[in-house]
Amino acid sequence: MSFDQPTPDLPPEHGNLHVAVIMDGNGRWAKNRGWPRLVGHRKGAERVRELVAACPDLGIRHLTLYAFSTENWKRTTEEVMGLMSLFARYIKREAARMNREGVRMRVIGDRSRLDPKLAGLIDWIEQETAGNDTVHLTVAMNYGGRDELSRATRAIARDVAEGRLAPEDVTEATISDYLDTSFLPDPDLVVRSSGETRVSNFLLWQAAYSEYVFTPVLWPDFTPDTMRTILDKFQARERRFGGVTV
Ligand code: FPP
Repeated sequence: MSFDQPTPDLPPEHGNLHVAVIMDGNGRWAKNRGWPRLVGHRKGAERVRELVAACPDLGIRHLTLYAFSTENWKRTTEEVMGLMSLFARYIKREAARMNREGVRMRVIGDRSRLDPKLAGLIDWIEQETAGNDTVHLTVAMNYGGRDELSRATRAIARDVAEGRLAPEDVTEATISDYLDTSFLPDPDLVVRSSGETRVSNFLLWQAAYSEYVFTPVLWPDFTPDTMRTILDKFQARERRFGGVTV
């Protein structure tokens, strides 16, 4: 698939998309320039800001971003700490803009391992932007699909053991309700940047019927135009959800 063609405007019926993004390639982008990896992450954060601002024009209502996985703790302390302060700074610096642009920000993942100050900031921004409804920005921090499913399964088991839930009532819808993403529709599209073609433990349950697009663009080079090109490809695909189109 080629991603370098200019694209026509999106049809209006696609104003309600849920797009999830695995933002990959910050490290390589910095390394290519002989810069520290954190410089790539900083540039990546600028791309996040631009993309969030462009969501209404792109027809994206829900934008879900994979910012830090349960596996990312294996990186150097310097990089982990750098990423955590970048997230904190993003929340503080972007709060006013998010309110101006009608962005509601929420965080998914296991917060118990996050620094209490960052966890406090997350609580704060979620409350601060709770009334906004133009764009729903969901950031996955210390998130892993298997970890999320394990936590949900434990919660279901507890509720069954304590008589709040009957085993026969554990349906697909019940499981979705116990996931971190209970407030979100399933993603229409999952995009991964940087040429890697793995799912990397992202939204394992939720992306069962999502389309995937993999682009070679490194995340710090990923602009709203890159997304527009990808959305155009996506909209040209036929989504059948396992059924047959007549
Ligand atoms: C993966 O690229 C990227 C990350 C682990 C961090 C993503 C974080 C940001 C884009 C920062 C800002 C985010 C928010 C929500 C404010 P990589 O470092 O694995 O790249 P590489 O594969 O080239 O090494």
